[in-house]
Order: sequence, then structure tokens, then C-alpha cells
Amino acid sequence: MSPRYAHITGWGMAVPEEILTNDDLAKIVDTSDEWIFSRTGIRERRIANSDQTTASLAVEAAQRALEVASLHPGDLDMIIVSTSTPEFIFPATACIVQDRIGAVKAGAFDLLAACTGFVYAVNLASQAIKSNGSTNALVIGSETLSRFVNWKDRNTCILFGDGAGAFVLQASDEPGGVLSSVLRSDGSGGNLLSVPAGGSRFPVSMQSLYDGLHYIQMNGREVFRFATRVLTEATYETVEAANLTMDDINLLIPHQANQRIIEAAARGLNYPMEKVMVNLDRYGNTSTASIPIAAVEALDQGRLTPGDHTVLVAFGAGLTWGANLIKWTGPLPPTRRKVSPAVYRRFARIRSILARLRRRIEGFIWGNG
Ligand code: UT7
Repeated sequence: MSPRYAHITGWGMAVPEEILTNDDLAKIVDTSDEWIFSRTGIRERRIANSDQTTASLAVEAAQRALEVASLHPGDLDMIIVSTSTPEFIFPATACIVQDRIGAVKAGAFDLLAACTGFVYAVNLASQAIKSNGSTNALVIGSETLSRFVNWKDRNTCILFGDGAGAFVLQASDEPGGVLSSVLRSDGSGGNLLSVPAGGSRFPVSMQSLYDGLHYIQMNGREVFRFATRVLTEATYETVEAANLTMDDINLLIPHQANQRIIEAAARGLNYPMEKVMVNLDRYGNTSTASIPIAAVEALDQGRLTPGDHTVLVAFGAGLTWGANLIKWTGPLPPTRRKVSPAVYRRFARIRSILARLRRRIEGFIWGNG
């Protein structure tokens, strides 16, 4: 059997319209635009309104990605939503997305590797495609971190923003696509960045609410030190695994956490900042969504074109870190005539209502027990 390759054939992003600037934050906590910008590179971030959730942003980004790929949602066989801010502990946010976009033949599950999640998910989908386990996969990074931020904690609330980004990965005999990946973790540093309460270890209680343990807790300095080391390591390792050198890399797309971390990584790699994608000034740290959002903007700006090699590299809670090396190709020739995921979304809604109705009627006829 000829080898299969996993190409990125579609991409899309979605961010809330509401902008929260550093000056807005300075009215809430003891901080300033000057402090935030000089320490992080962030100027503003997007905040979800009460109608927007991790799933709704994911659906928007997914729809755009399917449109670029000209792929019918019914042809998807796998949906991975990477998120640290799921709609619920269960069911998986990916199943909500599956229902809303009408991906009737797709398995769907969530993946939690914090800010590294998108890199993990791209690797997982590409491995499934290469081993014949999948043909058309949808990978989404989506977050509503604003719901887990303590807006009284200036150490964390200045950093995070909301948003989503999505890739469609498709099988092809043409060489290219995801060439190599590196995934790493070190659970001994789990306490450095966490949301302690709300899981089985510390279920939500009056005490946990009082102590604010349902909010993001972070040791910023330690995470900073760890990040500068692992971004360089993971990039080198994935480039080496693909038998390439840094000279072959046209664009580096790092996790958008902090301008100083990104610059330190570029210095460590002896790689020019002009070839590094940075857009955190406008979105802050959107965790697992930051890489696909940066990739979509790089494509829109013509900084990533077919034939280019790009490295996606991330670090985050866990601790986790990792990288993917991708030879960019773009959309494959469409398998069906032009599709409009927005139209399918309307069909999906009707299908979902009918499925619920059928369940009720069956329950009525056969009884619920
Ligand atoms: O996706 C992964 C997510 N996490 C990260 O990427 C975090 C990585 N770490 C960082 O980006 C940086 O450590 C921070 C931006 C969080 C903090 O920058 P820093 O240069 O490491 O500052 P610091 O924590 O060492 O704090 C320096 C000072 C402290 O005051 P004292 O103790 O020196 O008097 C802080 O209390 O700055 C103070 N400070 C602030 N001042 C104004 C901390 N936060 C703020 C603030 N505004 N928002």
C-alpha cells in the first residue's frame, strides 16, 4: 500500500467582537498599559459575550475551515476539540460541535493538553490519517478563558483572551503535510499552572469558591523559565526528526503567550524574528487556540504559502510542550461540488431537533425504564 500523508487543507478562526484593552484592565486591577505591554507584548484581548461559548466559537472556526477545504461535514470521520475550558466536564465539547455542524459520520472527543493541545491534536489526527484510521479530520482549538480568570488577580487576568481556530486534515498520496511531531510532558510541574477546583480531587464547594480555587492559578516566573527552554528544544527536535534544518523553515508559529518568551526562543534557535508569527498584541494568550489563530492570520497575510515549511511549537500547563513540522500544501481538489457549511449547519439543526424528538417518541412508546 502506498504511503498516506496528512495535509492541512482547511483553516479558520473565530474571535469574539468585544475588545478589552490594557487601559480597560487598569480600571479593574492595579496595572497599566505600560506594564502589561512591556512585560508581555499584549495590547488587547477578545472577551466572549454571554451568548458565546467554547463550542460556539469552535463551530464558527470549524465552518470556515470546512469552507476553505471545500469539505462536506458529512465526510468528516474525526473531530478533536482541544480545550482547557470545555462547556462541561462531560459530554465532550467535540460532540456539541459534531451535532451543530452535522458531521454525522464523525467520532468526536476532547483533548486536554492545555496550551500545547492543538499541537497534540494535529499530531493525533495526522497519525490516524497516516495509519488509515481516518481520511478527513477536523482539529479545533477553542477557549473561553475569560470564564476561568480571576478578574481581581493582576498576575493572570492581564494575559488571557478568548477565541478559536481550526484545521481540516485530509489524507493524500502526495508527499507533504505533517512531516514530524514531538510531544512531551512533565507532570511534576503541574502545580505551576492549574485550575485546582471543579474536578474529582476538589469538587466545587463553598470553601473552594471562597478560596477562589475555581480560577486559574499560576507561578508566572517558573512558567516563563520553563517556556524559554522547551520552545527551543521542541523546535530543534521536530526539525531534526524531519531531516531538515532551521534554514528550511520559512515561518515559526509559536504559542502566543508572551513576546519576551517568543523572542528568547528565537534567540535560542538563532532564528530571525522576521520569520516568527506574532499576533498576541491583539488577542493575548488564547491558550490552545493561539497557534491556529496565528496560522490563519499568517495565511491571510501571505506569510505562509504552498511549499513552505512551518513549525508550530507550544508549551503549557501539565506541564506539556511539543511541536509539529508541516509542509504547507493548501486545499485538495474538492471531492464534491462546492459546499456551504452554513447551509449544512441549518440542516444539522433540523436533524438534531428530529433526533431529540425521535428519542422522546421512542421513550413514550417503549417507556423510559
Ligand atoms: O500559556 C502559558 C501561560 N502562562 C505564561 O505564559 C506565563 C509566563 N510568565 C510570564 O509571562 C510572566 O512571568 C508574567 C507576564 C506573568 C509576569 O512578568 P514578570 O516579568 O515575570 O513579572 P513578575 O511576576 O516577576 O513580577 C514583577 C513585579 C511584581 O512586583 P514586585 O514583587 O517586584 O514588587 C509583581 O507584583 O510586577 C508586579 N506585577 C504587576 N504590576 C503591574 C505582577 N503583575 C502585574 C501587573 N501590573 N499586571
